[in-house]
Amino acid sequence: MWDLFLRIFHWSLAFFFLLAYFLVTDRLRLHAHAGYTVALLVLFRVLWGVIGSRQARFVDFVVWPWKSIRYLVLLLRGRAISYLGHNPAGAAMIVALLACVLLTSLSGVALFALEGSGPLANTFVANWPGDLLAGVHEFSANLSLALVVIHVIGVVYSSYIYRENLIKSMITGKKKETFNGEPP
Ligand code: HEM
Repeated sequence: MWDLFLRIFHWSLAFFFLLAYFLVTDRLRLHAHAGYTVALLVLFRVLWGVIGSRQARFVDFVVWPWKSIRYLVLLLRGRAISYLGHNPAGAAMIVALLACVLLTSLSGVALFALEGSGPLANTFVANWPGDLLAGVHEFSANLSLALVVIHVIGVVYSSYIYRENLIKSMITGKKKETFNGEPP
């Protein structure tokens, strides 16, 4: 089950991240505003991960890394069970995606501040090293995109293994329940 906020969050994040990455790098102002939106979306998601509905909460799906790895092995062997919320492998990807996308957008806000624009202009950030920030921004943006590609491959593969259209679930919010408890 995905609540309405989570679904709006997901498709807005996908839209604004891809917009910032692909369409507007030559239009800096638009690129920056798409990036601010990404940062705000992720910050709201973190809050929702604490106060939101059951499947949205981090305590419901974040597990130790070895559980994610064990689940991934089962998934690759086609023997994984499906979850009403995120499965342990998907959970690791979500944490990585949220962290990487947030780093990308915050380093972008800091870079923009160096040019005297944006919410952090004329603050302590103005003294930060531009080359380092530019490197972090570019690296984290490319890493985020690589994670997105793996994420989408994972979603399509899991849909095939579970015989359930997970993309449709992220639109309608409805998911077939087969397992909903402590990961094995
Ligand atoms: C455009 C193609 C995309 C498709 C088809 C897609 C599909 C999905 C699906 C089906 C889920 C739920 C997975 C599950 O059942 O456990 C999901 C979750 C998620 N996706 Fe995507 N996704 C796409 C793009 C993106 C992009 C571009 C980002 C980030 C930049 C992203 C970030 C996330 C996050 C953070 C979650 C976890 C949702 C939450 O609990 O907050 N996705 N995605």
